[in-house]
Amino acid sequence: MNDNILTFALPKGRLAEQTAELLTRRRVMAADVLDFDSRKLIFLDQKNALRFLLVKNADVVTYVERGGADLGVVGLDMLLESGAGVYEFSDLTFGSCRMSIAAASGTHTLYRQNIKVATKYPNIAKNTFASKGIYVEIVKLFGSIEIAPLTGLADYIVDLVDTGETLKKNGLSEVEVIFRSTARLIGNKPLSRIKHARIKEILSAVG
Ligand code: PRP
Repeated sequence: MNDNILTFALPKGRLAEQTAELLTRRRVMAADVLDFDSRKLIFLDQKNALRFLLVKNADVVTYVERGGADLGVVGLDMLLESGAGVYEFSDLTFGSCRMSIAAASGTHTLYRQNIKVATKYPNIAKNTFASKGIYVEIVKLFGSIEIAPLTGLADYIVDLVDTGETLKKNGLSEVEVIFRSTARLIGNKPLSRIKHARIKEILSAVG
């Protein structure tokens, strides 16, 4: 493998497509390198000495932190949840959504102690309530979080909200926005120092 190659870990789906659009527009990568319709997971842009790994959203920080990739693109939500020791180089501004607390419409918004909170983001949820002095029991789920308050599994959820349609369609309301999230370009710490010249070029191109 060419040592000069830079490897990106991209989360399969919309964020990978938007990253490819940005990198192509800024002439960092060649057009049509990624084929989202194939089952291939690794793509090479030989001309620009770039390699792209399509991984699960939740795995991007792991690849970057452990040096399986030099760079990665991940939502701030995943970055904060992971607590990973990686560089956060830039805010790519796309993939915008908010991390919110929500509950069944009509639920009292004054939090009690010992509430149950369902989420895909246990660390964010725990820290958010801890900073309010509220002890919570976390119910870790992997998706369709909105069902939890409707089935007695939890009093509140902590989840991403984009259009708000999923909350609305399931009789939930946003209680509080915790933070706004966008896609971030992250880098492995030691590899970023070794490959700083190439990474600097990419950072100035995506600006
Ligand atoms: C995400 C998130 C919400 C929904 C918000 O779920 O967890 O459920 O999108 O989008 P909206 O505000 O535009 O309705 P995703 O689609 O990733 O599926 P999941 O339930 O499997 O997490």
